[in-house]
Amino acid sequence: MITLGIETSCDETSCAVLEGRNKVLSNIVSSSLKKHRPFGGVVPEIASRHCLEAIDIVYREALDRAGISPDQIRLIAVTQGPGLAGSLLVGVSFAKALGYSLKIPLVAVNHLEAHLDANFIESGKPRRPFVGLLVSGGHTTLIRHEKGRFQLLGKTLDDAVGEAYDKVAKVLGLAYPGGPEIDRLAKRGDPEAVSFTAPKLKGKYCFSFSGIKTAVLYRVRGRKLSRRELEDLCAGFQESVVSWIVRKAVAACEETRTRILVAGGGVIANSLLRERLLAETRKHKIKLFLPPLAYTTDNAAMVARNGIDRFSKNGPSGFGFSADPNLKIGN
Ligand code: KG4
Ligand code: ZN
Repeated sequence: MITLGIETSCDETSCAVLEGRNKVLSNIVSSSLKKHRPFGGVVPEIASRHCLEAIDIVYREALDRAGISPDQIRLIAVTQGPGLAGSLLVGVSFAKALGYSLKIPLVAVNHLEAHLDANFIESGKPRRPFVGLLVSGGHTTLIRHEKGRFQLLGKTLDDAVGEAYDKVAKVLGLAYPGGPEIDRLAKRGDPEAVSFTAPKLKGKYCFSFSGIKTAVLYRVRGRKLSRRELEDLCAGFQESVVSWIVRKAVAACEETRTRILVAGGGVIANSLLRERLLAETRKHKIKLFLPPLAYTTDNAAMVARNGIDRFSKNGPSGFGFSADPNLKIGN
């Protein structure tokens, strides 16, 4: 069976073609990232306009690369939310128009579930319950999946971790997106030169990153940092946020007696986070799933992968659903 995946939740426009459950025939991503650089963050209006301009080209290229024609598509999986309203509307409207004209069933996909499924694009899913760690520009969430249901364990009370990376990078005069920039500079710094206090939070599995962002701001305000100071500050920031995330993710597995941790989202590309998750899960005998780097940021292959399972479990979504910027995961 051929499935077309469509992803337009933020600044990427992506279409992918999957054959069966696991074979990726194409996965085309067009990003508007460069257009947002002068503003130091995603401008929703620019993102949605880019999606609108790119979607048809990306769709045609995905089919071309896959070597298929539209009449071979048997299922369309599209991101319903969460994300930016304007961007989501482009993908959902495109999917509905295509599905209606070609009489192909649609399946509406949760973007966060799709990020976790990025781990299973080229392989099968684990059957046992797992803890999911979602770290992206919009989310920092710990959830537990059992018997087909997601239960929310905890999430950020303010900024998402990717958002904190991007805001701190802006304060430090680094380019957007800040995550990869800070990751690169941190490798050359001393993580012990600058330390930050972990926030005291009521929720066991909750996160908060606005405090550390403000602490960085106070450190640099009105000062010109030397290269060395900049690298040390990046290393100290990264050391703190990574250790907070890893500690809570491992604790969530231990305390819920779950032996599988599935991680996903743009920030899972972070080198230190990957390294620490690998080391700590090995120590605690937890099986870790980390998505290949190519599937960490937004892409339609993960949407198709999630849609295929959703379709075989619940059937089609029909044409009545709408884009939902606040779509939740877990309850
Ligand atoms: O999942 P994603 O592509 O978009 C959302 O759904 O939010 O994640 C984008 C986020 C950005 O905040 C970006 O700075 C962050 O992922 N990111 C990183 C790294 N690569 C991307 N953060 C830390 N280290 C990285 N290497
Ligand atoms: Zn995402």
